[in-house]
Amino acid sequence: MIIEKLTLRNFRNYEDIVLTPHEGVNLFFGENGSGKTNLLEAIHYCALGKSHRITGDQSAVRIGETFSVCDVKILTKGLHREITVRLIPNEQNKKTVLLDQKQIKRFSELMGCLQCVIFSPEDLGLVREGPSIRRRFLDMMISQVNRNYFIALQQYRSGLEQRNALLKRIGKNLEKGHGMLDVFEQTMAAPVSVIIAERKKIVEMLSDLASSTYREISGRDEEIFSVGYHSSFLESENIQEDYIYALKNNREEDIRFGVTTAGPHRDDLLLSLNKKNMKVYASQGQVRTAALSMKLAQMKVFRRISGETPVLLLDDVMSELDKSRRMRLLDTIRDYQTFITCTDKSDLDAEKNSRIYHVSNKSGTAVLDEENPDPSEETFILKEPDFAL
Ligand SMILES: Nc1ncnc2c1ncn2[C@@H]1O[C@H](COP(=O)(O)OP(=O)(O)O)[C@@H](O)[C@H]1O
Ligand SMILES: [Mg+2]
Repeated sequence: MIIEKLTLRNFRNYEDIVLTPHEGVNLFFGENGSGKTNLLEAIHYCALGKSHRITGDQSAVRIGETFSVCDVKILTKGLHREITVRLIPNEQNKKTVLLDQKQIKRFSELMGCLQCVIFSPEDLGLVREGPSIRRRFLDMMISQVNRNYFIALQQYRSGLEQRNALLKRIGKNLEKGHGMLDVFEQTMAAPVSVIIAERKKIVEMLSDLASSTYREISGRDEEIFSVGYHSSFLESENIQEDYIYALKNNREEDIRFGVTTAGPHRDDLLLSLNKKNMKVYASQGQVRTAALSMKLAQMKVFRRISGETPVLLLDDVMSELDKSRRMRLLDTIRDYQTFITCTDKSDLDAEKNSRIYHVSNKSGTAVLDEENPDPSEETFILKEPDFAL
């Protein structure tokens, strides 16, 4: 799939822009704070209905404005589609998403319409940080190829929040009866088997692809990267039943701590290099290559499952890679529409199959200047034909 047109209105430091990206590499370079990441964030909004940053929707609306619009026209499976995300923080229905100009009722309708993968410096946390960042990675990936998974996640989360709230009330003696716990536990157990089965299936695929991608990017055959899935219910034959049993069994302890201790919200991915835990043993360079390999493997998972090529967003990562890794990366992404940001244009040798934009911040407003307009799109002014002799 490709983005044919991107329109932003009052989105962060963008006032009003229309961009018709190249179907290959689109390079955005400019100083820090000019608006490069904001542009990728807008694409992420259209793909997943939310920012990749951990910020609220309100901060994405241009300061002093009351609404914001991100709109993409995409070409997917031979069809032209349009996704519009409107943020209106002061109104009750503060975020609306339109698919082909019709408002969607559930976010699950949006999932997968525009598949995108973003890789930014914060993604090094995939290897170094705690499990929640890896679960988020997994959940965002699977949701984009499987709407039922996304729905199962929402159901599970809602049950979990209700159960945790009730555990706290019981712990404080504000509530006595355990009857509602049964109800919430049933709500949580139904989607658990979908979540765990899908995670298991996707991680197997991801691990193979991440391992070969790691080898390609690093150029080192002796370093074997693998991704494993850790879940307490992995071996279970009847996950739903076993999960209800575990929840009941843990009630005393859960009431004491006010949280649910068992379940897929505690799962993790185990990343290892030559069978050693990367979190503990890996060098900075290995961490970088592993995180990038996971993201590129995610692209390949999308392609394998949906038969479509997702859009790749690379935010400020070129300068982090040495020249040979950069070259190998560019080789790997050749078939994808890619949006790359960097502060120095020389981080990337100009490619034929690319478009280059300079991004600058003029008095708080982002300005995009195209560097080498595609000659094939040059407009010729035709002289009026004159037949009079
Ligand atoms: N809601 C907003 N309204 C106006 N400007 C904003 C808003 N949010 C962020 N900005 C501006 O956007 C710029 C940061 O853009 P960003 O894309 O992160 O920069 P970079 O080019 O370094 O990636 C900053 O100048 C910041 O002031
Ligand atoms: Mg940035």
